[in-house]
Amino acid sequence: MKAKPKIVSIVGARPQFIKLAPLSKTFSGRFHHVIVHTGQHYDDNMSQTFFRQLHLPRPSVNLSISGGRHGAMTGRMLSAIEKALLADRPDFVVVYGDTNSTLAGALAAAKLSIPVGHVEAGMRSFVDDMPEEINRRLTDHLARLHFCPTEVSMKNLRAEGIKNGLIHSGDLMYELLHDSKSIIRANKKPLRQFGLTPGEFLLITAHRAANVDRPENLQRLAELLEALPIPTLFPVHPRTRKRFVQANLLRRLRNQDNLILCEPLSYLDTLTCAMQAHAVLTDSGGLQKEALFLGTPVLTLRDETEWVETLRRGNRLIGLDVRRMLRALRRKRAVRPMPYLIRRKRPSRLIADAVRRFLGGR
Ligand code: UD1
Repeated sequence: MKAKPKIVSIVGARPQFIKLAPLSKTFSGRFHHVIVHTGQHYDDNMSQTFFRQLHLPRPSVNLSISGGRHGAMTGRMLSAIEKALLADRPDFVVVYGDTNSTLAGALAAAKLSIPVGHVEAGMRSFVDDMPEEINRRLTDHLARLHFCPTEVSMKNLRAEGIKNGLIHSGDLMYELLHDSKSIIRANKKPLRQFGLTPGEFLLITAHRAANVDRPENLQRLAELLEALPIPTLFPVHPRTRKRFVQANLLRRLRNQDNLILCEPLSYLDTLTCAMQAHAVLTDSGGLQKEALFLGTPVLTLRDETEWVETLRRGNRLIGLDVRRMLRALRRKRAVRPMPYLIRRKRPSRLIADAVRRFLGGR
């Protein structure tokens, strides 16, 4: 009997564990699937919680590389991933999204002539100096298979001259959410824990470099948090917490009426809050979509989005502008679901089938 092809998934940051969950399930029967964790996210509530809750297999290795400047972090990852891949000798590597772990994984594999597949290929914000945009573009140009979640992402790749290996796969985040919906609905824990009433609170998250690393924008974020008109839950990302502490803002925000600061939430608790909230305010790409999947309006704390389809379906760009926020919250807009499934097929199935075809039907 022929050995199953060996696939290595390289992950390191919170949104990647979420995208990995449905794919890991589908891969497990068909391939010998190994997970390499770069260690980019390392706090229990940013990493292990997701492995436990989403029943992810343990990574074969955790490279424990995190923090520091982007170039140094990516460089250290490149070297360590190369070693891991030389030890594992996979037939194919899958990378996810747009983090430093994504780029380091794709580059290490491509340099070893191991073909790479990119989940969430073709997403673009067209903001050239956004770290995630740099990671996305380069990864797409290194990958051999491009798992595109949307029509627009397919078009973006073609416009950059990438014409081969495009697979319109749909959205893995939708697949996981769809499979978890009854648990999300039945989950009473977070609203009870934070004393929130369904439909009468907001959920806010913010961690993008543009919003929290530039002092003038961090200040604007703080002003927005002070102007929230109804009770608001804010699970604070470690990057954002660090910036608030450095800028002496944390104590001021803790005393703010209407604002409940908490540690990062688990996947299920986040989505239960997103489902029950009056609206979600976020600069996260994933949460923008997830809120709309759940029928909740979204105000995006940026001036652009990669998920342009969401703009016609209940997502509004408000930047860090208090007036735009208050106006958007007054005018409730209907939310329309997006076409997340392609030919009604599970994204993880379409991706696994494409990998198998690429490897010659093994
Ligand atoms: C990264 C991704 C971003 C993704 C986000 C999800 C890049 C360029 N950015 O941003 O695309 O949306 O993850 O969360 O890869 N830290 C902790 N504990 C942790 C993780 C991080 O304290 O568990 C600290 C780090 O040491 C660092 C800061 O938080 O000082 C930022 O972490 P980093 O990994 O640089 O990027 P994120 O902001 O999380």
